[in-house]
Amino acid sequence: MVDNQSAFVAFERVQKSYDGEVLVVKDLNLSMPKGEFLTMLGPSGSGKTTCLMMLAGFETATHGDILLDGVSINNIPPHKRGIGMVFQNYALFPHMTVAENLSFPLEVRKIGKSEREEKVMRALGMVQMQDFAGRRPAQLSGGQQQRIALSRALVFEPELVLMDEPLGALDKQLRETLQFEITNLAHELGITTVYVTHDQTEALTMSDRVAVFDDGRIQQLAAPDELYERPQNSFVAQFIGENNTMDGVVQQIQGDSCIVKLDSGDIIDAVPVNVSEVDQRTQVSIRPERVEFDRTRLQDDAHTLKAEVLEFIYMGDIFRTRLRVAGKDDFVIKTRNAPDQRRLKPGEMIEIGWLAQDCRALDA
Ligand SMILES: Nc1ncnc2c1ncn2[C@@H]1O[C@H](COP(=O)(O)OP(=O)(O)O)[C@@H](O)[C@H]1O
Ligand SMILES: [Mg+2]
Repeated sequence: MVDNQSAFVAFERVQKSYDGEVLVVKDLNLSMPKGEFLTMLGPSGSGKTTCLMMLAGFETATHGDILLDGVSINNIPPHKRGIGMVFQNYALFPHMTVAENLSFPLEVRKIGKSEREEKVMRALGMVQMQDFAGRRPAQLSGGQQQRIALSRALVFEPELVLMDEPLGALDKQLRETLQFEITNLAHELGITTVYVTHDQTEALTMSDRVAVFDDGRIQQLAAPDELYERPQNSFVAQFIGENNTMDGVVQQIQGDSCIVKLDSGDIIDAVPVNVSEVDQRTQVSIRPERVEFDRTRLQDDAHTLKAEVLEFIYMGDIFRTRLRVAGKDDFVIKTRNAPDQRRLKPGEMIEIGWLAQDCRALDA
């Protein structure tokens, strides 16, 4: 963790209300070291854009402080913050050529003509668009326009770049190419980036850390693998990736494992994550790829559940099998398509289990 003094970007107890009544950002704390690529991920309306706008200076915080390089920026106007921005809808000036679009932020910063021309060509080179300098935005495809928007955000060599769903309007393949280009550029140039998306795959693949937003709060802030493997609450577990969930009551806690009695009466093993007492209600969560149906791969004393195979789906690289377990018929397991992998058949009865550490007892 970085403390706020050495952090490059810091939010300290930031709140935001647009109408003086409802808080859309609630007591937000966040600190980022220089050079980090951080993504704000969350459902629509969770407060991501609001946070970005406060950092950029287009909105003011109702309460709390935002610091850039240790200095509060509350009273510094947007154009003096040295921040580059990229939005979903490109926001290129339609009446200007590509070169003029890129030159504009440099003119605002009173940079001389020859230096401007040199910087414009360098920034276009970063996104392989040197040959398009004389075109107008309308003469470019969506992906090309977004490359120009990106290079315009980088042209004045900002230390911090903010991007709000910059790839949202593009098709899947182009999105994946640009995801890769953006992270590469950010890391190569050593730029600190705050990236906003509602797409969890994008967040996991691009980021050093991800802040999961819900209802104006950060629910968890962690590296992608940590977030996926160790979600801290039910919201994060369900928002990131696929999960099987079951409800029950904690029956016994012993150090870092616990026994949960499901509402169906079945007994299972789990890790107590945010439960601490016997008799507490919990929602347990287990990833489809962590479920075993081969008894020899489980610990001797592991609890198992009876399951009926309902559906087997061949997906090429993996098999996806839907089961009826503990009275629910939406329990999913995923297995790798290996030469010796069993293909389960609908109607078959099996026994499933898992390592206690892979099943998380979360808030109910
Ligand atoms: N300019 C505004 N005026 C009033 N309410 C707003 C404004 N912008 C956003 N909101 C409200 O603030 C909440 C958070 O919005 P936003 O930050 O845009 O979320 P996200 O980017 O996560 O979708 C929403 O309830 C939204 O309706
Ligand atoms: Mg938004």
